[in-house]
Amino acid sequence: MKIAVVGTGYVGLVTGTCFAEVGIEVTCIDIDKQKIDNLKQGVLPIYEPGLEEMVVRNMEKGRLHFSTSLAEGIQNADVAFIAVGTPPGEDGSADLKYVLAVARGIGEHMNSYGVIVTKSTVPVGTAAKVQNEIAQALAKRGADIDFDVASNPEFLKEGAAIDDFLKPDRIVVGVASERAEEVMRKLYKPFLLNGHPIIFMDIPSAEMTKYAANAMLATKISFMNDVANLCEIMGADVNMVRRGIGSDARIGTKFIYPGIGYGGSCFPKDVKALIKTAAENGYEMQVLKAVESVNEDQKSVLFEKVKRHFGGELKGKRMAVWGLSFKPKTDDMREAPSLVIIEKLLSVGCEVVAYDPVAVHEAKKDLGDRVTYASDPYAATEGADALLVVTEWPEFRSPNFETIGALMNTKVVFDGRNIYDAQEMERAGFAYHCIGVRT
Ligand code: UGA
Repeated sequence: MKIAVVGTGYVGLVTGTCFAEVGIEVTCIDIDKQKIDNLKQGVLPIYEPGLEEMVVRNMEKGRLHFSTSLAEGIQNADVAFIAVGTPPGEDGSADLKYVLAVARGIGEHMNSYGVIVTKSTVPVGTAAKVQNEIAQALAKRGADIDFDVASNPEFLKEGAAIDDFLKPDRIVVGVASERAEEVMRKLYKPFLLNGHPIIFMDIPSAEMTKYAANAMLATKISFMNDVANLCEIMGADVNMVRRGIGSDARIGTKFIYPGIGYGGSCFPKDVKALIKTAAENGYEMQVLKAVESVNEDQKSVLFEKVKRHFGGELKGKRMAVWGLSFKPKTDDMREAPSLVIIEKLLSVGCEVVAYDPVAVHEAKKDLGDRVTYASDPYAATEGADALLVVTEWPEFRSPNFETIGALMNTKVVFDGRNIYDAQEMERAGFAYHCIGVRT
């Protein structure tokens, strides 16, 4: 089989590379010449564990190609994935201009039957617009070429994307013809070996599935953040409550960890977009509105604790911040709670010294030189009045608190991810604040 993947962002690059990995011939296309030139040299635009080696290996094997030419990449492709960005517009709805421009381009250049698949997260009804765009472009050039559209949302987690792609829990495909179903089943056959299903459905349901999945996960997180905040007030311990409810299989142990709010490019954007789609169609997503509002508040919870601890006297205090990316194993800073926390610290006159193993380059785009960047976690704590743990990178899990205590000006830790044991922290002589856990 031969496929084209348009858009070499996070989703496109992982998708294209993983298909190449199982022996499919893949051309990844992007209009950004610099990006394509870099990729041809094995230089990736994002950090994702294991991806770089896989890109290089598959290029060397001659299965993975990069090009700026849609016309070239689409020739004889059995399947073309549209994986370009859908940035949120000012009103929260997903902007489809890139998706539809690619659809037009495919219609202008395709030369044989193919299935055109939306892989980007797109609102319900987008595949129909893609279909229209392609049909119009074909009609304009008087080409009589058959095609199908399909919707195949991705469920990749940043930091674990390769594993998620190669061993998926499920693959969801929305189709409108048996021919398209057959092509998609053949394409995904190599990934179904772990016994997880490929679920075929109609196109609008597949489009909705993606939003419903992310919205449900965001809901779990906001719900637990609400519970954690209440635990603090009532003298309960959210770690106990989490274990207590998670052992009920209907609730499950995953995604019920409270923290400082969800970030990243997906949950905030998709929750907003779903609320917007509903509103446009005369329906109010009441639960999701609350999910969003809890999340906004939660990003300030750690700062409020800092403020309380120091009795509001924060001017001139030196704050060490561990972790900048919205979660570990990525350099993605989009909607990262760290940005909200750091802006608040800076606004009251704190000095911020931050450490992150990979995200500093990205963080600088927002924070510039208003923050000092330390080269290792210990250096960040030197002379600090408090340490804030914002992202739970594995290297923060078991640091030497004796060393840290000696380096710090005052021994205070604000743990936004509940990664330390309150009693151990007390024994080490630290004032310890976390989220919803009894200290
Ligand atoms: C999310 C989904 O998990 C993927 O299935 C989906 O494909 C992806 O969005 C997408 O739509 O592209 P991702 O944004 O990479 O993936 O990150 P997650 O691991 O889901 O984490 C999201 C946020 O939730 C992070 O800020 C994390 O810190 C937070 N979180 C997660 C919690 O606060 N508590 C938890 O228990 C779990």
